[in-house]
Amino acid sequence: MLNDVGIYGLGSMGRNLSLNFVDKGFRVSVYNGLETDKKQNAQKFTDDNTSTKTLYGFTNLNEYVFSLTKPRMIIIIVTAGEPVNDVIAQLVPLLDRNDTIIDAGNSHYADTTSRLQKLSKYGIYFIGCGISGGWKGALHGPSVMLGGSAEVSEKVTELFDKVSAKDEHGHPCCKWMGNEGAGHFIKMIHNGIEYAMMQTIAEAYDILKKVLRLSNSEISLIFSDWNREEISGYLISATSNVLSIKDEDGSCLIDHVIDKSLQKGTGKDIAICGLDYGVNVSVIIEAVNARFLSVSELRNNNNQYTNNANAINDKLDHEAVVNNLLDTIYCSHLTSIIQGIDLIQKVSGAQSWDISVDKVFAAWKNGCIIKTDVINDISALLNEYTLAEIMVRRIDVTRLDSLVGIVTLGAKTLIPLPASSATLNYLLAIVSN
Ligand code: 6PG
Repeated sequence: MLNDVGIYGLGSMGRNLSLNFVDKGFRVSVYNGLETDKKQNAQKFTDDNTSTKTLYGFTNLNEYVFSLTKPRMIIIIVTAGEPVNDVIAQLVPLLDRNDTIIDAGNSHYADTTSRLQKLSKYGIYFIGCGISGGWKGALHGPSVMLGGSAEVSEKVTELFDKVSAKDEHGHPCCKWMGNEGAGHFIKMIHNGIEYAMMQTIAEAYDILKKVLRLSNSEISLIFSDWNREEISGYLISATSNVLSIKDEDGSCLIDHVIDKSLQKGTGKDIAICGLDYGVNVSVIIEAVNARFLSVSELRNNNNQYTNNANAINDKLDHEAVVNNLLDTIYCSHLTSIIQGIDLIQKVSGAQSWDISVDKVFAAWKNGCIIKTDVINDISALLNEYTLAEIMVRRIDVTRLDSLVGIVTLGAKTLIPLPASSATLNYLLAIVSN
């Protein structure tokens, strides 16, 4: 009996997505590359999961491909860039017309479009599939952003509907975004917003820690409270959890994490895309820049400037600062999402992809890293108001005052707040005459 779907690549995402498909009743063939150690991993993975009877590991590429029912569907989850080209080159001689290759990694959307064009010469369909939710999402239900060969859009959407996260009404958070690289393009936008949200959260943490001098457990509780407010979402809840984790010696794990952050490239890609298309994605760009600076040799620890947080702290109304931070995160999350949507509309028009923002929000409802009530809030207003009107309606004078207060406090206490400051400057430029 032949199998329903193939997974190529057994990193944490590939392994968990395979198990998710098996769990939904699919017969799954897995393969892990041509090198000997990688081959063995495929066998070991199936041996380790012997209770899952419909998971089949292959160490021979031909046997793997021929184990699949025709027309075949093969999902590749490997590192973006050359590895994707290598895998496609291995598969093409073994595939038939009408087979489909689905790239579920974080490929650049322009690469996806050009791969699709090349493969169409062989009659092979190609899909760029953005998957969000990390390894846990891959296992229990990710958010899925699809795009590529329109001929197989329904079939591929049906396939991923089964394994994706579901919203509160049980609808799959899996959507077809458009032709060519539209799926990977939306995943890139997702990641840019993710970078911006993480940076804003880090800035709030810095103020709570260095200005209000709160402990990690106190900050964890604040984030837990915030997760019941209008900024409730995956990253807010994850921050609360992370801050409460203790190391083996009883100290806080967070205090052992170095303050350097690299990136895999999607953040940089959206920054370049914004500049290419003339769309201001400043909050996202500042988040990317913050990562660059975090690993820059220009950083040094000479304390030439005295941080006057101590003197200021005595005079601060702590509760007011916490409330202002909540507003600041709301403003910044809202702004980065609106900047992302602005870029989607511009690129979608230029590429004739006709991407529906409603579908994007539906895919981001659950399962993804940027899942937040702020998206639901914007989504509810989008059919009635323009992006600029939404900003004005949602960022009222009180919220703006809070944001000004936090950016000023950051400057006075010598704490860099690049994303929050970019949010303020962007908003002022939108609303000022
Ligand atoms: C997700 C994440 C995931 C990962 C990215 C970005 O949606 O599950 O976006 O895809 O976080 O690869 O990684 P970097 O932050 O290292 O660039």
